[in-house]
Amino acid sequence: MNKTVLIFWPKGGNVENAANMIAKEFGEIDIVSVDKVTEDTLVQYNKFIVGTSSLGAETWEGTKNKSPWNAFITILGKHDFSNKKVALFGLGDQVLWPSNFVDGLGTIYAAFVNVKAQMVGKWSTEGYDFTDSKAAEGNSFVGLALDEDQQAELSEERIQAWVKQIKEEF
Ligand SMILES: Cc1cc2nc3c(=O)[nH]c(=O)nc-3n(C[C@H](O)[C@H](O)[C@H](O)COP(=O)(O)O)c2cc1C
Repeated sequence: MNKTVLIFWPKGGNVENAANMIAKEFGEIDIVSVDKVTEDTLVQYNKFIVGTSSLGAETWEGTKNKSPWNAFITILGKHDFSNKKVALFGLGDQVLWPSNFVDGLGTIYAAFVNVKAQMVGKWSTEGYDFTDSKAAEGNSFVGLALDEDQQAELSEERIQAWVKQIKEEF
């Protein structure tokens, strides 16, 4: 089985739009919102694309019990992902949250590293203007950073280039 699944949250906004664009660009892929993910989803697939927004450290903590990401991270923690490849994307706003830009991407990254996933899809920080991010390591983000609030015109070409890249890395 060599199927790919795209998991995303939240629904109804920029993340879902980006998820649909990425899925369309990728081609053969299943797409599921994170609240519908089951143990079976994690076992069944061996390639994952996972996307989230950033709601700030305080908001993320404050919604701890409400966000379906928390349930997902708990289920994920019971699995061994060492034979699975994972590519991440994250939405953020570099002008309003320059010191927490795409932090949510960093939080999801940590959860997959914790289960030893093979992480692919790193993306250059060039072309972004921010001061700090949990998702940045040196000159790279740990996945694709998208900013629909400030750089919406760049999203399509970023998605096209990134999907091409992860298809080679998968
Ligand atoms: C309450 C709130 C907090 C946010 N905190 C951050 C943040 O810490 N870092 C960041 O990069 N973007 C932050 N954003 C921006 C969102 O991540 C961004 O607008 C994203 O595109 C929203 O995706 P959605 O439409 O799928 O919800 C925040 C937005 C809101 C409304």
